[in-house]
Amino acid sequence: MTEDLLERRFATIGRHSPLFYDQPVHLVSGSGVWLTDADGRRYLDAYNNVPHVGHAHPRVVEALCRQAATLNIHTRYLDERVVEYAEELLGRFEPELDRVVFANSGSEANELAFRVALQHTGARGILVTDYSYHGNTSLLAGLTTGLKTHEGLAPHVRSFPVPDMDAAANDGRDPAVVRDEALRHVDEAIDQLLGSGFGVAAVIVESIFSTEGLPRVPAGFVEGVAARVRAAGGLVIGDEVQAGLGRTGSTFWGYQRYDLVPDLVTLGKPLGNGHPLAATVTTAALWEEFGARNEFFNTFAGNPVSSAVGLEVLRIIDDEGLFARSARLGSVIRSDLTQLTAQHDRLGPVKGDGLFFGFSVFEDAGHARPDGPATRRLVEEVKRRGVLLSRIGPTGSVLKIRPPLALQDEDVPTLTGALRESVLTVLGQP
Ligand SMILES: Cc1ncc(COP(=O)(O)O)c(C=O)c1O
Repeated sequence: MTEDLLERRFATIGRHSPLFYDQPVHLVSGSGVWLTDADGRRYLDAYNNVPHVGHAHPRVVEALCRQAATLNIHTRYLDERVVEYAEELLGRFEPELDRVVFANSGSEANELAFRVALQHTGARGILVTDYSYHGNTSLLAGLTTGLKTHEGLAPHVRSFPVPDMDAAANDGRDPAVVRDEALRHVDEAIDQLLGSGFGVAAVIVESIFSTEGLPRVPAGFVEGVAARVRAAGGLVIGDEVQAGLGRTGSTFWGYQRYDLVPDLVTLGKPLGNGHPLAATVTTAALWEEFGARNEFFNTFAGNPVSSAVGLEVLRIIDDEGLFARSARLGSVIRSDLTQLTAQHDRLGPVKGDGLFFGFSVFEDAGHARPDGPATRRLVEEVKRRGVLLSRIGPTGSVLKIRPPLALQDEDVPTLTGALRESVLTVLGQP
């Protein structure tokens, strides 16, 4: 049945739409952090950040069904739910971020953020980090550095590297020196944009640097990037599509781990727990300026059903204490994985924050040569043991472990045990 479905998928959706794993998983149901495939096999989901409060959370399902059975309509009518959701969502931001514009995807949210920034500044230049991804629109394809796009980097886009204190090249170096060296690349990129007449409209930064492979950035780096862009007249876009909503544990939004309030913050993935819901959050000044210049609307975004779902997700996070749990379980797992990585000289230190972490796999004990193929085997081995995760980074050599926030204490040994056994299978005895 799964083979047949695969062929039918190839014959309709095509072969280029990505599927995880050597043997794709055919999932039929989910509950909490557990997924069941067509053969009845259960998997612990240690990958998905979209079902943030848990797969098929009964309260989300109930809120969705109740509103769908009452009214769902496009966004050009007054609706109590929609305004209530906007108020509750904005209540979780700094007071100056007091406008929200709903979208259907992270790509749409980022596209709008850039439109606002381009119009506000009158500039065209965009800065982006090396090996990042922010979405699939035409504009965003032109600034994608982390995935293959035929467009390539657009002429008005410059990318800069993100320093990683865990990189072998930085071993033992003073973080301030690493930071200043990295910021010089940003200065150069800004000089080039100014020199070529594009000016500087915006930088987009994903605060946990997920696609980049969770680099451990030196203190002051992110703030330094923002300060330089602002001094050149540009705005700062904080992409919280992956890092937001309590994922990083210590703060509700990932950017709050830095001394920084972005001009625009974009949200997506976990916001609707699987229902397509995203948003651009910004200041009244920026949104009023844009609104006066553009007749902007979005048919589906933030409709009553989406808003009912979004609202319920926020309330579940509060009622179930998921934000605090993300920090607590994150540190439990991190300390277990730290023991594991310390036993194998081909494993790098544990990276990430809250319930988003991973570690690098290398060919050598000196950590000079990342080992993408071994990391791939590791992901497959972990899956064989009933846990789903993935890998990231420029060479695909950083494990990506990012379970729903619904993870429970009793799930932790399943995750860490599968990792421990799989490391043994792939790398051998320490
Ligand atoms: C950091 C980040 N920003 C934006 C996006 C785009 O979001 P969407 O796929 O909802 O358009 C993604 C998707 O993977 C992402 O990881």
